[in-house]
Amino acid sequence: MRFGDVSYEKKDRVAILTLDDQKKLNALSPGIRQGLKEGFAEVERDADIKAAIVTGAGRAFCAGADITGFNFDPVSVKIFLNDVFQALTIGEHVSKPVIAAVNGLALGGGLELAISCDMIIASEKAKFGVPEINLGLLPGFAIVRLHQIIGRSKSKEMTMTGEPISAEEALRLNLVSKVVPHEKLMDEAMELAGKIASKPAIAIRLAKSSINRMLGGEEIVYACDAMPSLFATEDTQEGIRAFLDKRKPVFKDR
Ligand code: COA
Repeated sequence: MRFGDVSYEKKDRVAILTLDDQKKLNALSPGIRQGLKEGFAEVERDADIKAAIVTGAGRAFCAGADITGFNFDPVSVKIFLNDVFQALTIGEHVSKPVIAAVNGLALGGGLELAISCDMIIASEKAKFGVPEINLGLLPGFAIVRLHQIIGRSKSKEMTMTGEPISAEEALRLNLVSKVVPHEKLMDEAMELAGKIASKPAIAIRLAKSSINRMLGGEEIVYACDAMPSLFATEDTQEGIRAFLDKRKPVFKDR
């Protein structure tokens, strides 16, 4: 089955959602956003499904928001960001457990999608980063959630330098629960999902909702409201144009 640009497979009692828009490194394009929404709606609807895995096709898990879809009109920015936010926070909103099986680059919204899931297993080839600062932007969800996982210092370093970390470093920082050989990624994710799927589903849902209750939500609303204002700055417009023109941006602090 396929929803938008996300393929959907049902194996035993586990749904596997694979982001598949490889020419854009699985960035959160309209097709990927639609696929995530419809795919996870199917996960909720299908009573046979006890757990889900989200992964990416090709060399990337997900390269973040679709930069080719950016536009600077304030109303469009707000609508666009809300839609992207809905897609990348989806792991938190699904009532069933979701495992991110990170096969490669997880950048910006890609890292955010992974941390919205309940657990992350990473291939040794995975890389995690929040490069938005290079565009004059910020990662609206990670800015709130990442420091809760890896601590303030490292989270600020990643946010302010935009530099990615390796799977091994992600393991040291407790960002992921396991790093596995690349070719074993899906087997390991299936094994974990299978264990969870064999437990009583009502207790599993309560475990998820109880632990997620303490994550908080107010800061997310603030970040979501504040982020669109960056699109009005000359630096962000320059950062985005420079990426599309494949050149280095020249920031002027305006
Ligand atoms: N949105 C839209 N398209 C994207 C994308 C994104 N976030 N990330 C990559 N792509 C596209 C590239 O534009 C390129 O398309 P093209 O072949 O039509 O030129 C294609 O994916 C391959 O990317 P490319 O940059 O050629 O590969 P690379 O190996 O040299 O670099 C990255 C890979 C991920 C480091 C680089 O693409 C990148 O920095 N992407 C942006 C990541 C980002 O800032 N995410 C947060 C967005 S808010």
